[in-house]
Formats: sequence, C-alpha cells, structure tokens
Amino acid sequence: MTLVAEQDLGTPPSKGEHHVSLTIDGVAITVPEGTSILRAAREAGIGVPKLCATDSVQAFGSCRLCLVEIEGRAGTPASCTTPVAAGMKVRTQTPLLKELRREVMELYISDHPLDCLTCAANGDCELQDMAGAVGLRDVRYGYAGDNHLAAVKDESNPYFTFDPAKCIVCSRCVRACEETQGTFALTIEGRGFESKVSAGMSESFLESECVSCGACVQACPTATLSEKSVIEIGVPEHSVVTTCAYCGVGCAFKAEMRGEELVRMVPHKDGKANHGHSCVKGRFAWGYATHRERVLEPMIRTQIDEPWRKVSWDEAIAHTASEFKRIQAKYGRLAVGGVTSSRCTNEETFLVQKLVRAALGNNNVDTCARVCHSPTGYGLKTTFGTSAGTQDFDSVEHADVIVVIGANPTDGHPVFASRMKKRLREGARLIVIDPRRIDLVRTPHVEADYHLPLLPGTNVAVLTALAHVIVTEGVVDKEFVRTRCESDAFDAWASFVALPQNSPEAIEELSGVSAAAIRGAARLYATGGNAAIYYGLGVTEHSQGTTAVMAIANLAMATGNIGRPGVGVNPLRGQNNVQGACDMGSFPHELPGYRHVSDDAARSMFETLWKAPLDHEPGLRIPNMLDAALDGHFMGIYIQGEDILQSDPNTKHVAAAFAAMECVVVHDLFLTETANYAHVFLPGSTFLEKNGTFTNAERRIQLVRKVMTPRNGFEDWQITQMLANALGYKMHYTHAREIMDEIARLTPTFAGVSFEKLDALGSIQWPCNQAAPEGTPVMHEGGFVRGKGRFMITEYVPTDEKVGPRFPLLLTTGRVLSQYNVGIQTRRTLNTIWHEEDVLEIHPHDAEQRGVKDGDWVKLASREGDTSLRAAITERVAPGVVYTTFHRAETQTNVVTTEFSDWATNCPEYKVTAVQVSPSNGPSEWQQDYDALSRRSRRIAEPVPGE
Ligand code: SF4
Ligand code: SF4
Ligand code: SF4
Ligand code: FES
Repeated sequence: MTLVAEQDLGTPPSKGEHHVSLTIDGVAITVPEGTSILRAAREAGIGVPKLCATDSVQAFGSCRLCLVEIEGRAGTPASCTTPVAAGMKVRTQTPLLKELRREVMELYISDHPLDCLTCAANGDCELQDMAGAVGLRDVRYGYAGDNHLAAVKDESNPYFTFDPAKCIVCSRCVRACEETQGTFALTIEGRGFESKVSAGMSESFLESECVSCGACVQACPTATLSEKSVIEIGVPEHSVVTTCAYCGVGCAFKAEMRGEELVRMVPHKDGKANHGHSCVKGRFAWGYATHRERVLEPMIRTQIDEPWRKVSWDEAIAHTASEFKRIQAKYGRLAVGGVTSSRCTNEETFLVQKLVRAALGNNNVDTCARVCHSPTGYGLKTTFGTSAGTQDFDSVEHADVIVVIGANPTDGHPVFASRMKKRLREGARLIVIDPRRIDLVRTPHVEADYHLPLLPGTNVAVLTALAHVIVTEGVVDKEFVRTRCESDAFDAWASFVALPQNSPEAIEELSGVSAAAIRGAARLYATGGNAAIYYGLGVTEHSQGTTAVMAIANLAMATGNIGRPGVGVNPLRGQNNVQGACDMGSFPHELPGYRHVSDDAARSMFETLWKAPLDHEPGLRIPNMLDAALDGHFMGIYIQGEDILQSDPNTKHVAAAFAAMECVVVHDLFLTETANYAHVFLPGSTFLEKNGTFTNAERRIQLVRKVMTPRNGFEDWQITQMLANALGYKMHYTHAREIMDEIARLTPTFAGVSFEKLDALGSIQWPCNQAAPEGTPVMHEGGFVRGKGRFMITEYVPTDEKVGPRFPLLLTTGRVLSQYNVGIQTRRTLNTIWHEEDVLEIHPHDAEQRGVKDGDWVKLASREGDTSLRAAITERVAPGVVYTTFHRAETQTNVVTTEFSDWATNCPEYKVTAVQVSPSNGPSEWQQDYDALSRRSRRIAEPVPGE
C-alpha cells in the first residue's frame, strides 16, 4: 500500500439518532443531528480548511480557519464547533472567508520557522497543507516581530521530540492526552501570545506524567511533536496494516516504511480493538527487531557447557530430527514434546501442535497459557460452555458499573484502559478488587467507588461473600436465572453462598477487607445497571484460580449481567495471542477448537485430514514434562517463542529439569535464559517478518502482515514445517493462509474464517460460521453456548503457602507499562529508560521494621530461593504485602515463587508467596554466578579457518 493519509473528518461522529438535511455550497447533505458543519462538509467531499480540529478529539474552535457563512446568521462561525441544523444553507468559499483565512495563516506563518525544506515533516504537515489550501503567497506582517522561534526543544522522551518553535498552540495534543489517553499530562500555560504547551508543571516530557502513548504526536498537525525515527530515517513512503505483537488488546497499526526499513508504527483508525490509539509498546518499542543481539543463524552444540556452533539450516533441522528420533527410539514415543507460543501466530501455533501430535505421535504439547489463563479456559467452559471472554471492547461504552479484579489495565492493557477511563469519566461507577492500590483506584477525573484491598490468596472468599450479599439481600435477577440457568445448580449455589461462613463479616479478618465495603460493592454491582467484570492474572494465578473464575461467572449469571452489550465476563489476556494459542489446540488434552483428544469423532476427523494416527490419551503439561525430565522419562523438547526458565515458577527446579534433557530446542529471536540449557537454537522471525493471524482478548482474529523480509530467512511456520518434513511427516504449505484454511476446515468456531474474509472485513470475532458469517461480538445472547448456564459451588480453600515467623510477608507479582512479560523484547528497546531494574514495593511500616530505606538493596527470600533487588517504599501495597515485577533476567523473580498451582489446570500460584525481606549489600551470590553462567552459555565458537 502506498502511503495514504487517513481521512480526517474534522470532528468525531455524532451519536445522534435523528438525521437532519442542509445544503453546503449548494450540495444537499443529510447527517445525524449533532454533527458539526465541518464534518458534514468533509463527509460530502467539501474541503473546508482546518487546523485545530481533528476527528479523534472534540472540537475546540481556536484557529479560526474553518470559518463559514450561514444564510440568515450574522458573522462567520467556526464550522468545527457549529452543529448542523435542518434547512441550514452554508457557504464555505466566499471572498470574505478566503480573506479571513489568509489573514489567519499569515499570523501563524509569521511566527513559524521557515525551514520547510529541511523539516522532518516536509510533505506530512497540515500547516504546510493549509498554507497551500488558503492560497497564502505573502506574509504582510513580516517575520521581524515578537516570536517563539528561539524556544528550546525538549528531546527528553526517547521516541519523540517537542520543538515549541513550531507549535501553533492548537491544543490538539492536550485534548488527545485528555480524551484519548486519559492521562492529562499536558496543559496550555499562559494566555494570548505567551500561551504555550507544557508537560506537567513545566517539566520535561520524561519527568512529567506522560506515559509515551504517542496520541499527542499523532494529533499534532505540525512538526512540533515528531517521532525521532522520522527525523532520523525520513518521511515514510508506503504502509502496511498489521497487528501489535505485545498484549492481548490487539491494536491494529500501519507499519510505515521506507523500502525495507520501518520508520514508524501508526495506530490504525479502522482498528476495531484500538480505534486509532496505542501505547508505548506497540507504538514505539519495535527496535528489538533489529537489535544487535538478535540471532540470525541456526546453532547447535552437543553439551550445554560448550560454545555454540553456527550451522546451516539444513544441518540444524536434520540434527534436531535425528536427535528426536534417537530419543524416541531409546526412551519411547512419549519422551519428547513441544511448547507453543502465545507470541506467535495462530498458524504457527497450530503447526507446532500438529507436529507434536502427527509427527511425534503423542499429545505432549502445552503453551504458556498454562501459566496465565488456563483457569479461564476451564472455569468459563464449565459455567458458560466456552473458553473465552464474552464481550468486545466496545461493550465497555455501555457499562454503568465496571469491576476490575486482579488486573492492572493501565499497565497491562493500556489502550483498553484508556477506553475504560473514558467511560468512567462519563459517569460509570468503579469497583477495584486488588491487593495493590493500582492506578485506576485514583487517576485524573476517575476515582473508584470501592477498592477492596484483599490479601493475596483470598479472591474466592471475597467473591463468594459478594454473592452472599446478592443472594441474602434479594437482588438476584430471578427472571434471568429462571430462563437462562440450570435451576438445581442455582439452588445449590444459592444455599451455599448464603451460609453464615460466607458472609462479608465472617471473612473480614482473613481477607483484610471491611464487610461494609464488600456489602456496598455487591449492591452496586447487582443494582447499578449494566455491570461488566474485567479480570486478569490476579484471579487466575492462584491455587484456586479456576474456582475464582467460576465465582466471577456465578456473579454475572446471578445478576443477569451476561449476553448483551455493557455487561459480561472479560478476561484481559496478557500476551498478544494467548486466546489464539488456546484456540489452536495447544493444550495436551485438547485438539484445536477445545475438542478433547479422547473424543473419537473429533480425533478421527483430524486423523483423516492429517493422514496420521493420533493418541487418544492426554499428554504432559509443562510442569509434568519438567518432572518427567528429572525422572529420566522426558528427554527432548521443541520450544517455540517461550522463555520457560524465566517465566515459570521455581527457577531452580526448571533449570535442573532442562539440564537433565538430552535435546532442548529453542526457537526464538534471542538467546533467552532457556537457551542457556539448549542444544539447538533455531532463529525465529518477528511479527514484522511474517504473515498470519493473532486472536486478541475479544476473540478478534486479525491479520499480521509481512512488512519486511525475514532477517533469519524464514517465517516461523516454515521452520516448523521443515522440522516436520525432516521427521518424516510431510507438510506442504506455501503460505500461512493455507494453514488457516485447514484450521477453518477442522474447527467449527473458525469455519467461516479465511485470509480473504479478514482482508475484506478487517477482523472477525469467533465464532464465525454459517450461523454468524461475520463473527460474534457478544456471546451468550439469548442462551449460553452450553445451553443453560451452570452455577458452581466455590468453597474457599486457603492456599498451602502460609506466612509464618520465617516468612511473614506475602509477595505478589505483576508488570509495568513499559515492559512486556519477561522482557525479552522490551529490554532490547529504549523502553528500559522507564524500567532499569525490577524493584520491590514494600509498605513504609514493613520497611521501617526491617531498617530498609527507599532504594536500599534487599534480599527477598522464600522457601524456594532468594534474590536481591532494590526496595521502593510505597503505600500502594498494604502492610504485610510486597510486590515486584518479573521483567529482568538479573532478578529472576521466579527463583522465589513456589510450585503450588491451580487445582484444575496447574496454573502456578505466582500471586501468593510467603517471603521475608531483609537488608542486603547488593546482588545475591547466585545472581553474580548466574551472570557468568549466562555469558559462558552464550559463547559462539569462532569459525574454523577454511570452513
Ligand atoms: S505521549 Fe500520550 S501521555 Fe504523553 S503527553 Fe502525549 S498523549 Fe499524553
Ligand atoms: S504541540 Fe502540536 S498539537 Fe500541540 S498545540 Fe502545538 S501544534 Fe498543536
Ligand atoms: S501493547 Fe497492547 S495496548 Fe499497547 S499497542 Fe500493543 S496491543 Fe495495543
Ligand atoms: S478548525 Fe475550526 S476553529 Fe480551528
């Protein structure tokens, strides 16, 4: 696609239900009431000039360039702030208007550096365009008067510059920061000639509240706010629409290119998940794709203490296949397996599980969803009949009450958080259930009605207490329950939750949440109108993760908050394609589309198409693979795009398991921590280098389009295909679209999906089939997928991980906005400026008791291990609770987490670890040794002369 500027209609669309007709320049036009004249004209192709208006923010009416004349009205009103009216006759091009517009432009240009030819925005500047549009030929005021041309540039942000000399004070940036992003980091300081844009309290962008989302840069009509990459590389020449590879929001972007070089990622207005907004990761943090540490050639070694040896692709693939065959011959068919990646495409994930099932002949395939949202799959399938969130993101615009449980959307799902904040500013009420005082609890113009700061590990007790209030105070939606749910299951559940031991008063002490707050929150949720629940890993990563998911589903069913816009149960997915990885059959007990491997009819359909017998016994989950390795039964593993060593709990145990295996194959972009234990390294391709699809948290399938040639030589699905062929199982795909065609043939919920349809529609939310040819935005309308909704008993069982005198504090973990997961990609971008290291948040009381001051090194110890990091003293955490992130390999937070896991799915209990914190002098001994081990393990042998 050549670079085409997206159409800007000047002001946002009106939501008016009635239409009005008017004429503009003699053209008859009909638009919804409330539409601005500017938008009505532009929709009709009448190019009224404008500068301060843009269709992503509300009109402000400051530049006076969009003036029009209206028959019967005096003066020349701004068309951006004047709504249409029935019968109105508008003129946009009269001698008077032309003269006025030229004068406005003369004033702007007389205070503007005339460096257009050398300006980075030359050819992409609305001021330049408008000067042309109004026919400006001369500046009568000259350039000698007072001006702002000597204003100092702010280069503090790593990704964009602010050059106030070029600012026309149109406030588009200020409005974008307020309305689109909801951060309120910018203001217009001063008045009249003195007025200027300011970040925070006259701070630099970096020091201010700015979260680097880029909305202001995108809104700026001049080169005042410019991406540094555009200044360095030049204005892009063509663009390709693709999908962000970071979080589960699934923002659509235009990758704007010069030749094969990526210049910038611009959020796509037509993206149905993001509607033109972005966060710092998707917008700016793509530099890892060309980072010098990226490995581009395959490598092998016999022992993990040897240096790596670069080899050809043929040798690497043949070696891997022969090792897997050797291991199966020696230890049996079940001694090998694979791990799919939630960072890879649906097609790539589908192929890895196909390779394991059809080429290796077992079901030993698992995915990183094991350690995040596997309880969502189990819990929602049991209660509703399908393993996915119920709504689209747009649904939040209809919510009256928003409940956020165990999630931190402003850091983990920032673009959706901006939508949520917008709705909250419009008046929706907010309940936050989280041990930490997350940003949403109090952020500009948003304050939670209730924050229930529960102790880690008590989710089920609190959720059941909410249900107790709903049942005992008689605010159940009886009609919904009667018509939509299993009555026996409801009766049993209602009797259970009504028991005195489930009352808010009974659990007040163990949960740390006041009974009054629980009662108030329950009443608000049940009676406040459309109520929607959004939850994250703070719900799932517990020994009762699945129970908590079912408790959430119970609440939604009991109050009738399911099956229409504005309500629902919405898991916020961590990685970009967690939903897709689960859909594609990445679990050891399920074929694609969540069909159990013991389902003869489903299995035989796959056997027929794949021409291979399939095992009817479930295979091993990741923790079982690790245990089996230590027992000497599991010896070979193919890991695509997953750093298990850093992301899974109890690092020592994971390391020992890998060390016990005979062939560990890591298929990734960089030498990860897991690669320290690998025998084969297969270089992977980035999302910029491949075709395929991702499925976001709304079940939205979107195309990932190749914008550059894979620097490693192949798309990831091609590498899996080469391995399958070398193992003797033939695959012949020539394009990722053929894999999707096969997925559609085999998976009823994907039956109507194809690359062609995705191209035409932009995206599709599954189920997409004959009944819903264009997909399903909201699920369970009129009936649940399983027929009747099923209430489940949710008895609270305290975790076995107990605090005591040795380990008196509870550690919980999470992530920060600038980083993604274990940081493999984001650590290799300029985002490190916001997160140089993992730190331990500790309450002032706990810090004082231990003699710890802000910034001190502390030792964080659990029953499993210890690590050292710096302390950050804050009241964000309650006394008795500490918190850290897991983004840095140097910290290896998972050294301290335990192997306790969810009873149903084995999802690890990351969110509850009993720990002690004590002063320390710096990194622990093992951290220093580990550094040396990593360096040793990453050695690459010098090529032998003559080879
Ligand atoms: S980058 Fe985003 S947060 Fe920062 S000032 Fe601009 S709009 Fe506001
Ligand atoms: S920085 Fe750009 S968007 Fe903001 S006021 Fe100046 S010209 Fe307008
Ligand atoms: S990381 Fe998530 S919120 Fe940010 S741009 Fe990517 S998909 Fe959107
Ligand atoms: S565009 Fe209408 S006043 Fe600026």
